[in-house]
Amino acid sequence: MAIANKIAGHISRSSWIRKMFEEGERLREQYGNDNVYDFTLGNPDVEPPAAFGEALRQLANHPLPGMHRYMNNAGYPETRAAVAARLTKDAGLTVTADQVVMTCGAGAALNVVLKTILNPGEEVIILAPYFVEYKFYIDNHGGVPVEVWTDRETFHLDLAAIEAAITTKTRAIIINTPNNPTGVIYRADELAALGELVKRAQQRSSHQIYVISDEPYARLSYDGQQVPNVFPLIETSVIVTSHSKDLALPGERIGYLAANPRMANVAQFVEGAVFCNRTLGFVNAPALMQRLVTGLQESSIGTDGYRQKRDLLYNSLTGFGFKMVKPDGAFYLFPQSPLTDDVAFVRQAQQERILLVPGSGFGAPGYFRIAYCVDQGMIERSLPAWERLARQTIR
Ligand SMILES: Cc1ncc(COP(=O)(O)O)c(C=O)c1O
Repeated sequence: MAIANKIAGHISRSSWIRKMFEEGERLREQYGNDNVYDFTLGNPDVEPPAAFGEALRQLANHPLPGMHRYMNNAGYPETRAAVAARLTKDAGLTVTADQVVMTCGAGAALNVVLKTILNPGEEVIILAPYFVEYKFYIDNHGGVPVEVWTDRETFHLDLAAIEAAITTKTRAIIINTPNNPTGVIYRADELAALGELVKRAQQRSSHQIYVISDEPYARLSYDGQQVPNVFPLIETSVIVTSHSKDLALPGERIGYLAANPRMANVAQFVEGAVFCNRTLGFVNAPALMQRLVTGLQESSIGTDGYRQKRDLLYNSLTGFGFKMVKPDGAFYLFPQSPLTDDVAFVRQAQQERILLVPGSGFGAPGYFRIAYCVDQGMIERSLPAWERLARQTIR
């Protein structure tokens, strides 16, 4: 084996989305693009807001001296200040620029935070169903993932199960709201209860436990639902997020982490994170993107388009007999698999040229994920295939 055994093992166990992608390519070649219904990827199908293009043109036409050079590893002061101002508004407490570190997306922010806080063998609680990369990110930094289920009916936090999973080795809990893959937004009361629970556990073990709130979908919520900010609710919280979804810029790798100003060791934590941003080799977030998002902290692609897609799929699929929680945010549905074996169900769906990811890929066998950040026309064309699939599989 010419690569590390561990990596070879990870590749073979984590290849669902890649397998589906390859299957999609094969089916597209065979049946044509319009006859394959690919719901596998969380890659926004919309363009960034017009203000992004305007800011890009403005900068290209009026370049700033030195704008492609290195800067402080934490990012430009004015970008960090703009992010801090937006967070101050969302959190209702003062967040300052020196509590923000610009990163190469939320993925990098998660790696930076885990690198900053984990000692070898320390545990990180992740909540099933979870974003599959969490396990690899935790392993990257010598940590041990501990899986705890959310409530299996509602996908909200199971506080008793989280409390029971905390040990003297627990260093962090990762939460993700709005959630990929369930679309659930955690309410303020359950986040506050989580904050209390963590406080109690810390008092027992006199050892800090971080709550890492992964929020790339925070500005994608529906029906007037608010996404509560964690800072006033959980003292040891760190937000990791990006503009991959709210400004539809996933390929540009721009995001940030922000530490709760109420956290006792906030300055030390940020110093560690800036060091890790540098030494993990990210060095700094992309310079051009930092400049552009500075003025876009109040912008977003809006949610009307995604809401229409959610409603069309949710109403049609529940009408055909599929069972699922109606998502409050993000752009995923996570229905129950009508077959006990979710992988067998996904294979059956392929016969109808519908591409899905099995729940097993999210630590949640018995479900499947639909990413509806796709063309509305594709959703409409897929409905007869969904109806046939329901007839074949729902008893
Ligand atoms: C829950 C969750 N966290 C983190 C990420 C990583 O996003 P980014 O593009 O900001 O690295 C994603 C991307 O799909 C995600 O769904």
